[in-house]
Amino acid sequence: MQTASMILDRDYILARIDPRIYGSFIEHLGRAVYGGIYEPGHPLADEQGFRKDVLELVRKLGVPEVRYPGGNFVSGFNWEDSVGPKEKRPKRLDLAWMTTESNAVGLHEFYDWTQKAGSSVMYAINLGTRGPENARDVVEYANHASGSKFSDMRIANGRKDPFGIKLWCLGNEMDGPWQICHKTALEYGRTANEAAKLMKWVDPDIELVACGSSSSEMPTFGDWETTVLEECYDNIDYVSLHRYYGNPTGDTPTFLARSVDLDDFIRTVIALCDAVKGKKHAKKQMNLSFDEWNVWYHSNEQDKEIYKREKWGPALPLLEDVYNFEDALLVGSILITFLRNADRVKIACLAQLVNVIAPIMTRNGGGCWAQTIFYPFLHASQYGRGTALRALVKSPVYDCKAYEAVPTIDATATVDDDGTVTVFCVNRDLKEDCLLSLDLRSFGDLRLKEHILLHHDDVHAVNTEEHPDTVRPTAGPGGKIDGGKAEICLPALSWNVVRFERVK
Ligand code: AHR
Repeated sequence: MQTASMILDRDYILARIDPRIYGSFIEHLGRAVYGGIYEPGHPLADEQGFRKDVLELVRKLGVPEVRYPGGNFVSGFNWEDSVGPKEKRPKRLDLAWMTTESNAVGLHEFYDWTQKAGSSVMYAINLGTRGPENARDVVEYANHASGSKFSDMRIANGRKDPFGIKLWCLGNEMDGPWQICHKTALEYGRTANEAAKLMKWVDPDIELVACGSSSSEMPTFGDWETTVLEECYDNIDYVSLHRYYGNPTGDTPTFLARSVDLDDFIRTVIALCDAVKGKKHAKKQMNLSFDEWNVWYHSNEQDKEIYKREKWGPALPLLEDVYNFEDALLVGSILITFLRNADRVKIACLAQLVNVIAPIMTRNGGGCWAQTIFYPFLHASQYGRGTALRALVKSPVYDCKAYEAVPTIDATATVDDDGTVTVFCVNRDLKEDCLLSLDLRSFGDLRLKEHILLHHDDVHAVNTEEHPDTVRPTAGPGGKIDGGKAEICLPALSWNVVRFERVK
């Protein structure tokens, strides 16, 4: 058995955790909306056509905000098409995903859905085919009380009170040549700045996220952030990061180490933000919105086949990754990485939420189930609240194809407001269990409340509609605690949540 150690101190605080790091994303793409959250005629659909079984799983995840309506989709989207009487809403070709958008679900319906889901809308505006004027109009429609063209249009469309949408994205992945009306950094930075000014003049209470790079692998990464931030630093609140990982070669040690790359990406963006802050002699600190992240690669070949067969069909089953056990481990490590950077990462959105690279899957007319990645997200969202601690971790390390000296134990800890200490760990070792010694000296009298474990002997194990519980959490082996010192056994290849509660 390997050994590792962790020292926690209640005064060694990193930051208050912004609950919005447990956000997610629903795009008008594939079966995320149509056949995912919305399926009128399904036996479990409510009066608005929303699936109640899906809502129940979403509510469980405790997602504070859902980014909407895209994604690449938003760069060709006209929000006006999606409001007003449904029978008058136009069908549109969506050039991002080569499908036909019916607009049966739009801003009003999605807002209602988030209310039912116990969440809120993070609304992305179109800075592809459209610009600042349109950005102004949609904020007026959504958030202005009454007495103007667009606020009165909202009222006429059946919604008297403003939606009060607080969080807005200034476009999506505008650095990507695949984007509808891709822009250079300077073009985007100037447009984002002007849009931001207009939007905040309409509603000064909103918060704005400007597009950073769509991946750290973009050739423009770094220059993009610097140029964009130089243009719009004063008028925005967050810069975005996006990152997806895959394991097409089946190299598990490298795949599980990808959070090392993620940490590096986050630290580099922080440095870029702070450099612009310095150059501008600004007081404001720019924080990060990691508003697209996940594993994404399983469905790539399947999607090529779908497009060979069909284009322009509505709700094509695109990006339907079936997640395996090792994906859940990386998702756990990604969440640990966000907690370790909770002083600057204030928003994060698991992309996406239902059917499209998602923790929740549905069958049209059929069931709804949780994929493997559902569980680490659920646990982090449930227990990773309150304060993020600066954990001092000593772990054995390993080398793999892409990285050297990767810690075998990836771990961090939080303390919630009732004093419960939660330790999150991934044991990346393929074969060996690890005994983790914890020094909890400053927390007073604690007892081990629970050890939640996610493990499967087969890294390729998946959950399906027929076998939804193949990979599911169980009680872990736990360990002992005595006078502020604890020892916990972390099985080989596992996600662990270890909770210590105060002895009253
Ligand atoms: O989440 C799927 C797609 O990935 C989004 O539409 C886009 O922003 C990103 O490239």
